Amino acid sequence: MKLEKGQVAVVTGAVSGIGFALAEALCARGVSVVLADVEATALETAQTSLNARGFVVHAHACDVADAAAVDGLADAVLARFVVNVSSLAGLTAPPFLGPYVASKHAVVGLSESLAAELALIRSAIRVSVVCPGHVQSRIAESERNRPAAFAAASKTPADMLARIRAGFEQALGEPMPAPALAERVLAGIEADDFLILTHADLNGQVRARLASIERAARKAA
Ligand SMILES: NC(=O)c1ccc[n+]([C@@H]2O[C@H](COP(=O)([O-])OP(=O)(O)OC[C@H]3O[C@@H](n4cnc5c(N)ncnc54)[C@H](O)[C@@H]3O)[C@@H](O)[C@H]2O)c1
Repeated sequence: MKLEKGQVAVVTGAVSGIGFALAEALCARGVSVVLADVEATALETAQTSLNARGFVVHAHACDVADAAAVDGLADAVLARFVVNVSSLAGLTAPPFLGPYVASKHAVVGLSESLAAELALIRSAIRVSVVCPGHVQSRIAESERNRPAAFAAASKTPADMLARIRAGFEQALGEPMPAPALAERVLAGIEADDFLILTHADLNGQVRARLASIERAARKAA
C-alpha cells in the first residue's frame, strides 16, 4: 500500500514512544493522522505541536480497553489498513514476562486470523503486525496508565525487579530510536508485508523458536 497525501491513518497510543514516532513519519508523507490516546493532556500537546509544524492532525481521546470508545473511534474514521503492534515477545517467550508474552502472542494470532478472514471475503482492508525488539520509549514507565481498578502494588521485591530489568537490557541491547522504527514500519506497510520484523540483530531468537517447532514437527512426522 503506497502511503500518500489524502490518506487517513489512525494511531493509537499516539502521544509517546513508537506511536508518536509513527504519527510523525506518517505526517511527513502527507498522510492525515488521527491521534488516539488515553492521556488527554498529552494528546492535546501532541496535536498542537504537530499542527504547528503544518501537519493535518486530529485528536481523539480513547481508552483502547473500552470497547465502546474504540467503536466510537472506528466510526469516526474509515480504516483501510490495520497495523497491530506486537513485539519480539509475540514470537518468542522470554522469562519473567508471562502476561506480556501472552498478550503479544495474542496480538500476532489475532492479526493472522483477521488477515485470513479479510482475505476470505476479498476485503480491501489489509493487516500487518509489527514485532519490534527494544525501542526508545516510555514503556518502562507504563505504570502511569495503570487503571485504578488494577492498582495493586507489585509483589516482586525491588532488588529482583532491578536484576530482571538489567537482564533485559543485556539481552535486548541498545534501544532503536523510535523514528527509525517508524520508518521500518511504514516501509513494511508500503511493501504489503503481513509480518514486519525490525531488529535484524534479534532474528536469531526468532529462528531458534522456528527451529524448535521444526524439531517437534519432525518428531511428529
Ligand atoms: N519500546 C519497546 O521496546 C517495545 C518493543 C516491542 C513492542 N513494544 C510495544 O509498542 C507499543 C507502544 O509502546 P511504547 O514502547 O511506545 O511505550 P510508551 O509508553 O512510550 O507509549 C505508549 C502509549 O500508549 C498510550 N496508552 C497506554 N494505555 C492506553 C490505553 N488504554 N488507551 C489508549 N492509549 C493508551 C500511552 O498514553 C502512550 O502514549 C506497546 O504495545 C508495546 O508493548 C514496545
